[in-house]
Amino acid sequence: MEHGEDAGVYKLRDDLAIIQSVDFFTPIVDDPYIFGQIAVTNALSDVYAMGGKPLTAMNIVCFPVNKMDIAILREILRGGLNKMQEAGVLLIGGHSVEDDELKYGLSVTGVIHPDKVLLNRGGRAGDKLILTKPLGTGIISTALKGGIADEALVAKSIKVMTNLNKTAAELMMETPDVHACTDVTGFGLLGHAAEMIDGADVGMVIRVSSVPFFPEIREFVEMGVVPGGLHRNRAFRKSLIDIGSDCPDWMVDIFFDPQTAGGLLISVSENQAECLIKKMYARGIVEAAIIGEVVAESKGRIRLV
Ligand code: CO
Repeated sequence: MEHGEDAGVYKLRDDLAIIQSVDFFTPIVDDPYIFGQIAVTNALSDVYAMGGKPLTAMNIVCFPVNKMDIAILREILRGGLNKMQEAGVLLIGGHSVEDDELKYGLSVTGVIHPDKVLLNRGGRAGDKLILTKPLGTGIISTALKGGIADEALVAKSIKVMTNLNKTAAELMMETPDVHACTDVTGFGLLGHAAEMIDGADVGMVIRVSSVPFFPEIREFVEMGVVPGGLHRNRAFRKSLIDIGSDCPDWMVDIFFDPQTAGGLLISVSENQAECLIKKMYARGIVEAAIIGEVVAESKGRIRLV
């Protein structure tokens, strides 16, 4: 846990470890069924990010029984179950408590070969960095709450947030020379990228024009419609980031946008990167992109060029 790994791993035998994680949060969309789908996509993601296969899950529910229609909870659970079935994960129980604020999520248990665990650190100089989903879901959720996000944009954001990282993780695990992986969630792209090189012997270069994001969000950023977490993420990591003259300030904000159920950030050897990206495109992960590389110089720092 020292380096903020995505999930916990416990070795049972030389060829088998369990991998466990837990995540739950308050609604970020109005539709309860979709909220259930997003919460499950998000909760399973940490297991995928470490290269594991999630097997079972338990629901975690906080619900204001006296203030809210129980039918809403049923829809949330139905949406969650739908995503678990898509992922091949078995729901084996759960726990609910009465709470003033609605929350939903999962505890997840998966399996992995102990030698195949992918940590967030381990990227080697020369590796390419692949990001599998576009950025901006946090900003879009904030704009939605503010009543200024249009329906088509919200629909695109929901599609990204309900897209399991399962296929991306399977393709990653079939690829030789993948050295590290994490998923982009609350700390934003640069927060999670910083964890990958924190105290390591390497640095990173991110090519800003290659980073996928929803183009519509530039306007929101320039209006200051961003989640509070974005400023905290930026303040926390800004001393590690060297911002090149080709990277405007609004883009740096997008790179710190907290994501829900964001994509995988994969460090893979240069000679495998193109092949992995092509396999992703062929399987419908069309917004995946090579966004930069791991470098030997400027250790522990990220250069935006
Ligand atoms: Co994670």
